[in-house]
Amino acid sequence: MPAPPSPDAATPIAARPLRLGTFDVDPPVVLAPMAGVTDAPFRVLCASFGGGLFVNQMVTARALLEGHAASWELARFHPAERIRSLQLYGTDPLTLGEAVRRLVAEDRVDHIDMNFGCPAAKVTRNGGGAALPYKRRLLRDVIRAAVGAASAESGGRVPVTVKFRLGIDDDHLTFLDTARIAEDEGVAWVALHARTALQHYAPPAHWERIAELATAITSIPVLGNGDVFCPDDARAMMSTTGCDGVVVGRGCLGRPWLFRDLAAAFAGEPVPPPPRLGEVAATIRRHVELIVEWQGGEERLSHFRKHLAWYLKGYPVGGAVRQQAGQVATVAEIHELLDRLDPHVEAPEGVERIVRSHSNALSRVALPEHWLDDPDADVQLPRGAEALVSGG
Ligand SMILES: Cc1cc2nc3c(=O)[nH]c(=O)nc-3n(C[C@H](O)[C@H](O)[C@H](O)COP(=O)(O)O)c2cc1C
Repeated sequence: MPAPPSPDAATPIAARPLRLGTFDVDPPVVLAPMAGVTDAPFRVLCASFGGGLFVNQMVTARALLEGHAASWELARFHPAERIRSLQLYGTDPLTLGEAVRRLVAEDRVDHIDMNFGCPAAKVTRNGGGAALPYKRRLLRDVIRAAVGAASAESGGRVPVTVKFRLGIDDDHLTFLDTARIAEDEGVAWVALHARTALQHYAPPAHWERIAELATAITSIPVLGNGDVFCPDDARAMMSTTGCDGVVVGRGCLGRPWLFRDLAAAFAGEPVPPPPRLGEVAATIRRHVELIVEWQGGEERLSHFRKHLAWYLKGYPVGGAVRQQAGQVATVAEIHELLDRLDPHVEAPEGVERIVRSHSNALSRVALPEHWLDDPDADVQLPRGAEALVSGG
């Protein structure tokens, strides 16, 4: 839902800081957990532009308990991070509770977010991910286990929040029940990605459902998520839905300065113009520097190609540069590419809305047989429901 132009960009967006345990999230802006994207360098980069909460990538509770080194590595935070916020995924209350207990007992996190929005077929076909909220009892047990463990182990210091979608499809909406259960079980806030699993990432996000949720849930904050690409979108989402904060996903891919723009808009300050290519290049150099510092070396930079493509999206850099961007593997190659850019080139109109990452719908949501028969049935899910995947 594109926002109408702001009538007066210098009017602050009406909002209060979000309380999260012992922290204030101010402005009430959250970097959405994005697997393969929101690693420590990216979070630190985004946070250097403006305030908010910068959530780590999803890790599965089972992988942590089974000692997967890669998952523990993902759960690591940069010393510069003010609030260590991690997203956990699990479908078994015991496993989830134990993973939370360990993370808290070892003082590795300040906040845990739970993911109930993953649309990947390999988990939904086993009843996990975005399929799970349909089974209300299991949902309650899983949330209860996480909140109970976090609260018992931290003495209430580490809050748990929940992120979910509208439901499986338009005929099986679960968001209101999910939020009520989460509210009942003592989560600190709920965040709604206003799309069904079937809708996947296809526009538009249904902000009217965020409004419905904000009306229904009054004892804890409701955060809205979906299609916030610029400060005017955040302003429009806050004012038209009555939500308490915004969660930003694809809008900041290749555009970490969105957090500066959002901070300005929430404070009622003028929003800076979109950066020229020279500023973009400086941000890319900073991003690479953070990655090298975090990795402790220059190896394995091919994973940066996607970021590079997102940064350059929309700017008239020419086919040869874009092709080169798809092949870089070293810091030297990235710098060489950046040296070729004309720093004076301005951002084209509408650059912020060019699709970065997913934008498709699914043709069907894979579910276990008879999954939709009885939302109150007791179920125990197979291990496949916890297969290491990502998404929301
Ligand atoms: C590359 C990518 C990875 C994602 N991974 C996760 C994830 O691990 N956990 C999660 O809850 N959501 C995940 N999401 C969903 C986002 O958090 C967010 O809900 C979604 O992109 C909608 O917000 P947007 O319209 O601002 O992008 C992912 C999205 C993308 C694009």
